[in-house]
Amino acid sequence: MRILSGIRPTGRVHIGHFVGVFENWLKLQEDNDTFFFVADWHALTTNFEDTSTLREYTKELMKTFMAVGLNKSTLFVQSAIKEHAELMVLLSMVTPVSWLERVPTYKEMRQQITDRDLSNSGFLMYPVLQAADILMYKADGVPVGEDQVYHVELTREIARRFNYTFKKEVFPEPKELLSKVPKMLGTDGRKMSKSYGNTIPLITTENDMSKMILPMITDPARKRRTDPGNPEICPVWDYHKAFGTTDNPEETQWVMEGCTQAKIGCIDCKKLLLKHMVERLSPIWERYDKITEDDVNETLENGNAKASSIAKQTMEEVRNAIGLMY
Ligand code: TRP
Ligand code: SF4
Repeated sequence: MRILSGIRPTGRVHIGHFVGVFENWLKLQEDNDTFFFVADWHALTTNFEDTSTLREYTKELMKTFMAVGLNKSTLFVQSAIKEHAELMVLLSMVTPVSWLERVPTYKEMRQQITDRDLSNSGFLMYPVLQAADILMYKADGVPVGEDQVYHVELTREIARRFNYTFKKEVFPEPKELLSKVPKMLGTDGRKMSKSYGNTIPLITTENDMSKMILPMITDPARKRRTDPGNPEICPVWDYHKAFGTTDNPEETQWVMEGCTQAKIGCIDCKKLLLKHMVERLSPIWERYDKITEDDVNETLENGNAKASSIAKQTMEEVRNAIGLMY
C-alpha cells in the first residue's frame, strides 16, 4: 500500500507524538511504500503572523523523523514540492465553499481561537491543501488521529468529484488508518499542550527527563506514602502502559499491588517508568545528537526528489484530464 501522512511544524515534538504517531509510522514503513512530510504550508494557515520558528521546527522535525528511524520512508517538506499548490488550486475548482465551512475543526477553531486571526482564506482552504497532499501521491492509506478523519473523508469526496467532472479516474479514494492514540496527560495532569507548558519533549536527556517525570501528578489520594492509590486514575500509569511496563507481568503486579496496598512510593513507581523510557528513548537521543545539518539536507534532497518525480507525473495526468495542455 502507498501510505502518506504529514505533521505540522508548530511546536517542539513531545513524547505524545512518539507514542501516538511515530511508533505507528515505524510499523507501517516495514511493509508499505511510506511517505511522511512536514506540512509547513499547513502550519502557515494558522500561524502566518509569526513565522520566526517555522524554519527551526521544520528542520527539527526532519531530524526527529531520522532519529526515530524512519529511514525506509520517503521524507520530504511540503513547500519544496510546488505541485501541491498547483493541485490545490485545481481541486478548489470542484470543491464547494459550503463543504469547507462545514468542516468541524474549522468551525471549532473559528469559534474557540481568539488570540489569532483565522479569517484568512488560506485557513478555510486547509482541507483542500490536505486533499492535494494526499491525492498527489495517490495514497491508499492515511494514518491519522481522530481529529483528522473528516479531512480524509472530504478528500474522498473531492477525488470523486474531480474524477466525475473530468470523466477520468485520476484519483483513487484514500482510506484513513485510524491510529489508536494512547492516553498521555501532561505533567500536571491536564491535557498535554504547548500552551499549558506541561509537555515532555521527545528529545531530551536522562537527567532532564527525570526532572519532569519525578514531580508528575499522581493519584491525588496518595498524599502520603502510606495512603493506598489506584493506578487506573493515575496519569503515570498511562505512561507505564505506553512505555511497556504492562508487557511485563511481574512489573505490572509490582505496581498494581504496591500502589493499591501502599507498599511502594510514587517515586519508586516513577523510577521504574523512567527506566523504561530511557531504554526506549536513549537510542533515539544518541542518533539525534549524531545527525548533522548536512545529513538532514541530504535526506531532504533525496526525499524531495522522489516526491517531486511522483508529483510531476500526477500533475501531467491532472492537466491532461482537465485539458490544460498547450
Ligand atoms: N492536518 C494534519 C494535522 O494537523 C497534517 C496534514 C497535512 C496531513 N497534510 C496531511 C495529515 C496529509 C495526513 C495527510 O495533523
Ligand atoms: Fe501512580 Fe504509581 Fe503513585 Fe500509584 S504508585 S499513584 S500508579 S505513581
